[in-house]
Amino acid sequence: MSERKTILITGTRKGIGRGLAEHYLNQGWQVAGCSRKPTELEHRDYHHFTLNVTDEQQVAAMMNQIKRDFGGLTALVNCAGIARMNPALLTPTGNAEEIMNTNFIGTFVCSREAAKLMMRRQTGRIVNFSTIAVPLALAGEALYSASKAAVEQLSRSLARELGGYGITVNTVGPNPIQTEMIANVPPEKLEQLVARQAVARFGKIEDVANVVDFFLREESNLISGQTIYLGGPP
Ligand SMILES: NC(=O)c1ccc[n+]([C@@H]2O[C@H](COP(=O)([O-])OP(=O)(O)OC[C@H]3O[C@@H](n4cnc5c(N)ncnc54)[C@H](OP(=O)(O)O)[C@@H]3O)[C@@H](O)[C@H]2O)c1
Repeated sequence: MSERKTILITGTRKGIGRGLAEHYLNQGWQVAGCSRKPTELEHRDYHHFTLNVTDEQQVAAMMNQIKRDFGGLTALVNCAGIARMNPALLTPTGNAEEIMNTNFIGTFVCSREAAKLMMRRQTGRIVNFSTIAVPLALAGEALYSASKAAVEQLSRSLARELGGYGITVNTVGPNPIQTEMIANVPPEKLEQLVARQAVARFGKIEDVANVVDFFLREESNLISGQTIYLGGPP
């Protein structure tokens, strides 16, 4: 069985997930990643699964392969997510379902299947993704922020259910970070958002990695059910 640290990061084709995959590869971790479309990331310690995080059969098969290839899982980072900036009155039910399924159900399914692997070793780390759009209750992001509020609550409840197995569950809530997800948001709206933060600057992938690093540390085994927002109180 491999003794190396192994991390599964969802949503690694681009954006924050891709950056986190490179960050942990640079630190010598074995990294598994996934996304619906194939990735261009190539590294001897990286394995990509092309799947949808909402498909529980595909997710279970991925965990089985991780168990076979890596012997277990040290950490899961549920980074895969989608946003559709739209007023609630103009949001078709199909869009609402897609957002809830990807952001909330995807996080739930991956967490549940990863926890089964982690429980065997009586240790594990799960890090989920929220957003400052939750405390800000931003207009135009009702479904997106509701899906992430559900992720935060899931994290708190999972922290309680999994604490006895040595598994911590925490959440990072980024402020705006220049990825494709927010490429269509008008720049003035983003600047207004950033100006409201206690520390008024855009986030960077390194800022997210710093929080994830903290949650993953062995010494953080008493930190669970917490959400850390980037930029301070919005
Ligand atoms: N950027 C920001 O300002 C910001 C702020 C706060 C929170 N966040 C959160 O940070 C996380 C990453 O966001 P990002 O900015 O990096 O977004 P991004 O650039 O749009 O990347 C999203 C990633 O998730 C993958 N993905 C989406 N749906 C998926 C699914 N159903 N199954 C598997 N993979 C899926 C995408 O790959 P495929 O398209 O190939 O599936 C892609 O790799 C998200 O949870 C987001 O809500 C971002």
